[in-house]
Amino acid sequence: MNNQLVFATNNRHKLEEVSAMLANKHQILSLKDIQCNEDIPETGTTLEENALIKAQYVYQHYNMNCFADDTGLEVEALNGAPGVYSARYAGEGHDSVANMKKLLSELEGKENRKARFRTVIALIIDGKVYQFEGIVNGHITTSKHGTEGFGYDPVFVPEGYEQTFAELGNEIKNQISHRARAVKALVEFLNKQSY
Ligand code: IMP
Repeated sequence: MNNQLVFATNNRHKLEEVSAMLANKHQILSLKDIQCNEDIPETGTTLEENALIKAQYVYQHYNMNCFADDTGLEVEALNGAPGVYSARYAGEGHDSVANMKKLLSELEGKENRKARFRTVIALIIDGKVYQFEGIVNGHITTSKHGTEGFGYDPVFVPEGYEQTFAELGNEIKNQISHRARAVKALVEFLNKQSY
């Protein structure tokens, strides 16, 4: 394998996080870097399927080693919802405010507020598929707190803390988050490869 690896995303924050962790060994390319302007459809019904769909798209169309991620917030009292539909829980448009409003209203009066963020990464190297997972357990608050981060951060308190991700800030979040854990598993795997 050569040292180029496509991360099937254009999210600058994710690219920086992963590039820093793989600094010496891999050159991480974004979708933009390989001139892929396609909005790859996420038609799967699980995080695993969606991550694989995105990685396979790049591998098949560009013949380059690559990986892709997909994340969802899984709430126990809602049988794992919004899960794979987290970005569009309140409808198409990826509106975090509307998504959190819906989540808080679905959980109104519910005692069980346990939830977890789960990230799945699908990696394809020379046609072989590998999968990695990162989870952070926690609970959903009854109202929004904090201004940092994105998505459901103002309503999610990770286990072992009393503040939401949006109050804790990126420095702490990036050490313990679902994505950080999945990326760490990916990086450990890649660093063990001999080539
Ligand atoms: P994606 O797969 O990383 O695009 O994440 C899908 C959706 O999950 C996002 O649109 C957010 O609503 C939510 N999400 C993913 N990661 C986080 C996070 O770290 N904090 C809060 N919400 C997140």
